[in-house]
Amino acid sequence: MHDVFGSQYEYFEKIREVVSRNAKIYGFKGIETPIIEDTEVFTRGVGKHTDIVEKEMYTFKTKGGESVSLRPEGTAPIVRAYIEHGLHTKPQPVKFFYFAPFFRYERPQAERYRQFWQFGFEAIGKGNSIVDAQIIIITYNILKELGIDGVLVEINNMGDEKCREDYKKALKKYLKKEATSLCLDCKKRAIKNPLRVLDCKKCIRVKERAPQIVDYICKGCRDDFRLVLEFLEEVGVPYDLNPFLVRGLDYYSGTVCEFFVPQRGEEKNLAVGGGGRYDGLSALLGDEQRPATGVAVGVERVVSLIKENGFNEKEKPEVFIAQLGDLAKKKSLKIFEELKKEGVLVTESFGQDSLKGQMSRANTLGVQITLIIGKEEAVEDRLILRDMDSGEQEKIETNEIVKEIKKRIKKIKK
Ligand code: HAM
Repeated sequence: MHDVFGSQYEYFEKIREVVSRNAKIYGFKGIETPIIEDTEVFTRGVGKHTDIVEKEMYTFKTKGGESVSLRPEGTAPIVRAYIEHGLHTKPQPVKFFYFAPFFRYERPQAERYRQFWQFGFEAIGKGNSIVDAQIIIITYNILKELGIDGVLVEINNMGDEKCREDYKKALKKYLKKEATSLCLDCKKRAIKNPLRVLDCKKCIRVKERAPQIVDYICKGCRDDFRLVLEFLEEVGVPYDLNPFLVRGLDYYSGTVCEFFVPQRGEEKNLAVGGGGRYDGLSALLGDEQRPATGVAVGVERVVSLIKENGFNEKEKPEVFIAQLGDLAKKKSLKIFEELKKEGVLVTESFGQDSLKGQMSRANTLGVQITLIIGKEEAVEDRLILRDMDSGEQEKIETNEIVKEIKKRIKKIKK
């Protein structure tokens, strides 16, 4: 565990500021959950047979005899809070962000602490490929804004419950054949939780020849995954497909990702963050199944990467993008990223489907311009530009929009 003070404290403050500003732009609200939870939140949520729960949790009995644990991660507590406060009755998805300390009883080594900080984003209650992609895009943008270069996203799709069961059977069969080549831990994992063998740093050879999940996922999952990749390509987020990426926590399904950054003078890239879809977690915690997706990033690792670089400063949102329909969503995402690249302070609410809801959000945020892409405009490759002060609307060609917005903002600023 370590103290945070001096220049490290200042880095923490700066990262927190960049994270909360971006969270606001993308419509995420802050949440603080308690540092201690009922142990069950993690044994049921993260999984009994994961390293985090089996080896790394600080668990103890209270004077009243209950078993509690210092939180090793933030996703299960946030889903617990979503259930406890009946947040399924609010507009979905409910989007939260956090910047908080977590605890894992890890073997002391470089970049691993027993109390460490994460920032993260969770969108719970409604899932689609655009939200999956957006979580990745926000994280990528924050790392970039913090001056971290060379970020690479590794990505995979773990299938839904049904495809994963089929895959687990095939993997179990394969691991049984390879039992003599497995390390001691993996001999147990092969029986209790075969997916965890794919995380093992010792059993690389066995892993390389193992069946791949991509061959077991159904058409629905495959189509979903293709859309996520298309969204990432659309906005230029570099990714690598990693068929063995399964993450170390049991609650994942569908798209999973991990963020890596090359380290100066080191052969291995540093894993700075990870996440993915976790549709089954709410059911594991006693509620009905609720689609959800999220990501978390290690703050100490980010600090170590940005120490020699500066930050790119940005300010408050000026433009809101409202959309209706799948094609419009896809086009909005591209325009959103183009405007961001050009330094325009743009915001959206892609998780919301009603135009009325989106317009009311644009009003609340007090942006100067709203861009509206409906089904018709998406096909015509045009969009509606609404001046929020005068209420005047005008149709503009998509390829003219960046120029037009920059011109108008310049005029407003004068
Ligand atoms: P995780 O991969 O266990 O995911 O942790 C995310 C990041 O936290 C890691 O990539 C790493 O940068 C940092 N981290 C983890 N353990 C340590 C440690 N001992 N010392 C320093 N940094 C560490 C999760 O925690 C999931 N809750 C992510 C998520 C959010 N999935 C969906 N939503």
